[in-house]
Amino acid sequence: MQKTILITGGAGFIGSHVLRLFIKKYPDYKIVNADKLTYAGNLENLKDIEGKANYFFEKIDIVDKEEVKKLFERYNFDGVIHLAAESHVDRSITNPMEFIMTNIIGTVNLLNAAKDLWNIDKKGKLFYHVSTDEVYGSLGETGLFLEETSYDPKSPYSASKASSDHFVRAYGNTYALPFVISNCSNNYGPNQFPEKLLPLFINNIKNGKSLPVYGDGKFTRDWLYVEDHAIAIDKIYHDGCIGETYNIGGFNEWTNIDLIKLLCKQMDIALGQEPGTSEKLITYVKDRPGHDKRYAIDANKLKNNLGWEPSLQFEEGLKKTIAWYLNNEQWMNNITSGDYKNYYKEQYS
Ligand code: NAD
Ligand code: DAU
Repeated sequence: MQKTILITGGAGFIGSHVLRLFIKKYPDYKIVNADKLTYAGNLENLKDIEGKANYFFEKIDIVDKEEVKKLFERYNFDGVIHLAAESHVDRSITNPMEFIMTNIIGTVNLLNAAKDLWNIDKKGKLFYHVSTDEVYGSLGETGLFLEETSYDPKSPYSASKASSDHFVRAYGNTYALPFVISNCSNNYGPNQFPEKLLPLFINNIKNGKSLPVYGDGKFTRDWLYVEDHAIAIDKIYHDGCIGETYNIGGFNEWTNIDLIKLLCKQMDIALGQEPGTSEKLITYVKDRPGHDKRYAIDANKLKNNLGWEPSLQFEEGLKKTIAWYLNNEQWMNNITSGDYKNYYKEQYS
C-alpha cells in the first residue's frame, strides 16, 4: 500500500538509520525527511539513499509553525515519525531554551499540523513520537522502568521530552489524534555525534586523548544497537496499537566504568596496541550536574506483544561500532574540525 510518511530529524543519528530502513524496505512509500540540519544533523549520514526515488528532503525548522504548516499542505502525510530533537543532556544544562523550543514547541507545531490535516478522516493516520527512557527519572540499585512508571524527569533535556510526551497524549485524548509513543534506552552504533559517550571515547582513544569519566563512573545505562531501535520503530509504526506506549531497551545494563573498560580492551585489539594502553587514558572529572544514577528498561511489552527483540549481543555490537568509526575517519574529521573544537573546550576544560 502506498503511504506518504514524514520522518523528522532524519539527518541525525537514529533518524538516519530509521530513514535507511524505511527507504529500502518500503519502495512504494514516499518518505520525506524534514530536518533543520543543526550541528547534529549531517546529510553525509544519508549519502547511500539520497538518490532513491522514494526519498525527499526538506530543510525545515519545526519551531517555525508556518513552515511546518506548509510542509503538511504540500505532502498530505499519512503518518509522522517524529525524531527531531535537541538530544544531548550536557547541552541542555548549558542551554535549556533550545530544548524547550525544539522539543516542546516543535512537537506541538507538528501535532497541530497533523490534527488539522487529519481533522476529517483519521483512518490509517498515525503520529509516532519517539521518546526516551529518561522521562522516567533515575532508578536506585534495583527495579526497571515500565510503561506505567510515573514520569520524573530530572534534566532540562528529559523535562522537555517528558513535556512533549504529555502533549502527544493530550492531543490523543482531546482531539482523538491517533498516536503511539516509544521510550528507548541509550543507543549506540554508527553515525552518532561524538558528544555522546561512545563515539567521543572511541575518537579520544584513537587520538591518545584523555577519557573524561564523570563522577565515580558508577552510573548505569541500558544500551541498544541503533539498527535494533530502527527495527523496533518499524514494528511499532506498522503493528503497534493506537494510543499505546512501548518501552524499547537492550536488556543490557552496564555501569559506565565497566563499559569504558570493555571499550578500552576492544580498542587496544582494533588498533593493535599493547593491552592496557587505552585504559591509561581514563581520567575522572567533575560530575554532570543532576546526573541520573541508573536507567533500566523493561521492554517485555514490545517483546511479548509485537515479537521484537534486540538482534545483537553487546560485545558484537560494540566491535561493529568501533570498526565503523575506524573505517570512517573522514566522517569523524568533518565533524570534529569545525565548531566541535569550541564545544569540546567549553565542556571539558
Ligand atoms: P541527534 O541529536 O543525533 O539528531 C537530532 C536531529 O534532529 C538532527 O538531525 C537535527 O538536525 C534535527 N533537529 C534538531 N532540531 C531541529 C529543529 N528545530 N527542526 C528540525 N530538525 C531539528 O538525535 P538522536 O540521538 O538521533 O535522537 C533522535 C530522537 O530519539 C530524539 O527525539 C531523542 O530524544 C530520541 N532518543 C535518543 C536516544 C539516544 O540514545 N540517542 C535514546 C532514546 C531516544
Ligand atoms: O537514555 C536515553 C538517552 O541516552 C537519550 O535520550 C539521550 O538523547 C542520549 O544522549 C543518552 O543520554 P545519556 O546522558 O545517558 O548519554 P551520554 O552519552 O551523554 O552519557 C552516557 C553516560 O556516560 C552518562 O552516565 C554520562 C556519562 N559520560 C558522558 C560523557 C559525554 C561521561 O562519563 N563522560 C562523558 O564525557
